[in-house]
Amino acid sequence: MILPIIAYGDPVLRKVGVEITQDYPNLKELIENMKETMYNAQGVGLAAPQIGKAIRLFIVDTSPFSADEDLDESERTFLENFKRVFINAKILKEEGNEWAFNEGCLSIPNIREDVVRESEVTIEYVDENFKKHTETLNGLAARVVQHEYDHIEGILFTDKISSLKKRLIKKKLENISKGKVNPDYRMKFPLQKRK
Ligand code: NI
Repeated sequence: MILPIIAYGDPVLRKVGVEITQDYPNLKELIENMKETMYNAQGVGLAAPQIGKAIRLFIVDTSPFSADEDLDESERTFLENFKRVFINAKILKEEGNEWAFNEGCLSIPNIREDVVRESEVTIEYVDENFKKHTETLNGLAARVVQHEYDHIEGILFTDKISSLKKRLIKKKLENISKGKVNPDYRMKFPLQKRK
């Protein structure tokens, strides 16, 4: 089932997600619904707060990036196959050169901004079967994981841009909260007036 994606301005996007256990109600179904919702919106990641649940769960599939011309063959293969469910994730380490990448977010349609982050991340998490993993990622895979991880910490990419850029997009963000935007997927807007 495709779920409505929560738009910028909803308080659920600002909550720090809580850890979940294996007996979280309908977890399998929730993960399936999140995948369907992400693919329908052509996203490369989706975090639970974006569908209204302040829990430490996010999914990632970087395969759309594998078409990028600048990649070498091993990066291409990695991104093609990087599909993960991250539960109760904790970033252990971020390091490497800072680099800017033009980020977007399904909760913030039609806005993209360069965000600077470190290039490498080491993350500990359990997968959908509650099997524990520790992975070190870099490049685009790290970038998507860092963006989704921020969601479960209540952080959005627009928090990480300069104050000048924040001022420039303020009105656009207000309009998104009010539903004055036309994404090609279902959304739920916190300040939309009932018609
Ligand atoms: Ni996002």
